[in-house]
Amino acid sequence: MDKMLVHGGHKLSGSVKISGSKNSALPILAAALLTKEPCVIQHVPDLSDIHYMLQILAFLGAEVERASGTVTIRAEKVKTIAPYEIVRKMRASVCVLGPLLGREKEATVSLPGGCVIGDRPIDLHLKGFDALGATHRIDAGNVKVFAGRLRGATVSLLGKQGPTVLGTDNVMMAAVLAEGVTVIEHAAAEPEVVDLANFLNRMGAKITGAGTDRIVIEGVSELHGAEHAVIPDRIEAGTFLVAAAIAGREVRLQRAEPNHLGAVIGKLADAGYRIETTADTVTLHGNGDPKALDITTNPYPGFPTDMQAQFCALVSRTSGCSKITETIFPQRFMHVSELKRMGADIEMEPGIAYVKGVDRLSGAPVMASDLRASAALVLAGLQAEGITEVNRVYHIDRGYESIDEKLNALGAHIERVKA
Ligand code: EPU
Repeated sequence: MDKMLVHGGHKLSGSVKISGSKNSALPILAAALLTKEPCVIQHVPDLSDIHYMLQILAFLGAEVERASGTVTIRAEKVKTIAPYEIVRKMRASVCVLGPLLGREKEATVSLPGGCVIGDRPIDLHLKGFDALGATHRIDAGNVKVFAGRLRGATVSLLGKQGPTVLGTDNVMMAAVLAEGVTVIEHAAAEPEVVDLANFLNRMGAKITGAGTDRIVIEGVSELHGAEHAVIPDRIEAGTFLVAAAIAGREVRLQRAEPNHLGAVIGKLADAGYRIETTADTVTLHGNGDPKALDITTNPYPGFPTDMQAQFCALVSRTSGCSKITETIFPQRFMHVSELKRMGADIEMEPGIAYVKGVDRLSGAPVMASDLRASAALVLAGLQAEGITEVNRVYHIDRGYESIDEKLNALGAHIERVKA
């Protein structure tokens, strides 16, 4: 188990290339199960979550080849039961349910439990499948969905906390091979959903409205192979913008998509950072006196929950009192107790963190608990005095491609050592 030693106080400058999006690539790889023909996916990031997904696809019978960032998948024949041993490692494994149900009319996957960021039900995924005519059964920790035939239907995927990203993906993947027209109301509008819809359309699907809250899918009888390049990772991009805000003179993101970063760029601008964008770059200029922020997470195009922890790290040294409200996963504040161990001044109410900026943070041994919380601890370490020892960095490796090497190339000093 590796840990990272982040030596604080080093200034960042230069350019960093943003990788392909993890949360786009995961369902897109699963979607390759919808056809017998080969699919070629480019800009697939080299991350442990991606490796788990490729292992599941291989177990299900697909031939998987990987050459650098390009993955080729040929799923001539597929099995319909995903193995618990791999599925339990990654919640996003549930997104093989939709394509297997669409193609084979049945699928069995271990039911994902809660995870550290909160309760993570899949009731809305199942509601969508049921609307298409499937039945689901939960038995011995597995969920099985099956159907004689799938028929298009209108279904709302609105939950208590808003729409569901992977639920929208899953229902869309099942519906592309259903008979007739499916309408998903209150669909998630995240760019990753649009990326999946674009890939499915390249495979021959007929999907319109992705990127809005109403997606219309006209079923087709079969899909064919296709090539696709995954969009840039907006959360990795946002994380590097926060690193630049914390410790940067001038940092430029390359192969970024500024249009997907509106809420994050908006909050950085509110704090007083100067940001310039071109079609595929974002440049942030350092600011010695940033302002406190009031942030509420919301579904896209609102401020992403996946950037909440990193902004907590940022405002922990911003003078004034910042308020951070988490509406998607109200318990997603595991980073707070670790930031407090580094000297941050944070008061909690359910779902809300009040962060009073302090003059200094001091390096300390801290424990990574989930992907984005771990990234926040690395960011806090960049601005702390002394060395921050981030333990359990496998959480970071699930979602950031070589974050230590990329930050070091910008001027940070981070060592990765065996714990
Ligand atoms: N929800 C339900 N029922 C469901 C599904 C979701 O009540 O059937 C609730 C959830 O509990 C949550 C809200 O709806 O309160 C939104 O969850 P959503 O389903 O949108 O989350 P997800 O699709 O499982 C994806 C990302 C997460 C990201 C969320 C929200 C992937 C692989 N994961 O999860 O990313 O936080 O959307 O934007 O795409 C991360 O990358 O660190 C990460 C956790």
